Amino acid sequence: MLNRRFMAVSALVAASLGAAAQAPTPLKEAYKGDFLIGAAINTPQITGQDSRGDAIIEAQFDTISPENALKWERIHPKPDTYDFTLADQYVAFGEKHHMFIVGHCLVWHNQVPDWVFRDDKGNFVDRATLLKRMHDHISTIVGRYKGRIQSWDVVNEALNEDGTLRQSPWLKIIGEDYIAKAFQYAHEADPQAQLTYNDYSLENEPKRNGALALIAKLKAQGVPVTSVGLQGHDSLTWPSVEDQDATISDFAKLGVKVVISELDVDVLPSVTHQQTAEVSLKVQQEPKLNPYANGLPQSVQQELAQRYADLFRVYLKHRDVVTRVTFWGVTDGDSWRNDWPVKGRTSYPLLFDRSGQPKPAFQAAIRVAADAKTK
Ligand code: G3I
Repeated sequence: MLNRRFMAVSALVAASLGAAAQAPTPLKEAYKGDFLIGAAINTPQITGQDSRGDAIIEAQFDTISPENALKWERIHPKPDTYDFTLADQYVAFGEKHHMFIVGHCLVWHNQVPDWVFRDDKGNFVDRATLLKRMHDHISTIVGRYKGRIQSWDVVNEALNEDGTLRQSPWLKIIGEDYIAKAFQYAHEADPQAQLTYNDYSLENEPKRNGALALIAKLKAQGVPVTSVGLQGHDSLTWPSVEDQDATISDFAKLGVKVVISELDVDVLPSVTHQQTAEVSLKVQQEPKLNPYANGLPQSVQQELAQRYADLFRVYLKHRDVVTRVTFWGVTDGDSWRNDWPVKGRTSYPLLFDRSGQPKPAFQAAIRVAADAKTK
């Protein structure tokens, strides 16, 4: 009798050990010592309404970015009104789980209210007024989370595809030095924080050259830029492995760190001639643009896995300079790509599927890390 009970208990223990042995290694463990692994999190995840998403975030990631919660329109909707409710919850979430917390983003031309640039009569304000508004915004927000948000995307998407500066209201009203000023204000508010210039498609040569010239100039002026964010809104074919590799090397040579700040890989038909993440782009829905509404074919699932493996091999090759790889979302269902540039498509850009299960691309990313460690 005793023997039978012992055997039953042994079987139970063996089964639970077996289950533990088979539990997939979390991403953050697989890449420990190489770089941090993160995700942009949305409102339901910040507020605890998405418990399934939160469980994935807690298990898999050691850094978080706020998908929208810290953008100007959310946190500073009116001249004298700051709303820190969601931002405070975001930072508390990261602290509770001992995560590296990213702030996104201080100066951008999108999701910024029009009042920022205008006077009472609706005309553009002058340079001094806009600099003061920028200073107040940055010092208030960075100051509030000093020592708690470790890294800020200070200036976001300041460049055109040809590498020239985007004609945003920031540039038109303040002039080219708005970028340097934004970094200085952020540094004054938290001298320890890492400060990033963040943009998409920097793997394309003209835009990359513009960014390299911009960063070199800022560094020469002593502006405290610590890293460049390559957003990584990629496709199955863009950027090439060679271009990804060369882009990271080029920025490393300037003495800045590189973060992959908004990674996702699009498998849907492209609607633009060039890969972009230009949020103003809108394209009409057509059935042929949404081919996988009822599920992703195995062949494409495998292509996606292979693509993620190729990208992660490049990031790992540069582990001395790449400090963080952050996915722009947690599961496929969360992704902005379901509604951009075509509203209502079924997109599959991330490592977790719509039911929160790891995809073959997840296993592929884990395998790349494991293979590198056994070499
Ligand atoms: O909050 C409103 C909601 O009240 C309203 O009912 C709903 C109707 O469409 O819209 C909601 O706002 C949306 C918001 O996301 C929150 O979901 C906006 O329409 C939508 O435009 C906005 O999109 C965000 C986009 O930035 C806008 O610029 C995406 O979620 C966000 O993923 C995306 O993130 C950017 C990075 O900040 C910078 N790099 C590119 C990246 C992808 O576009």
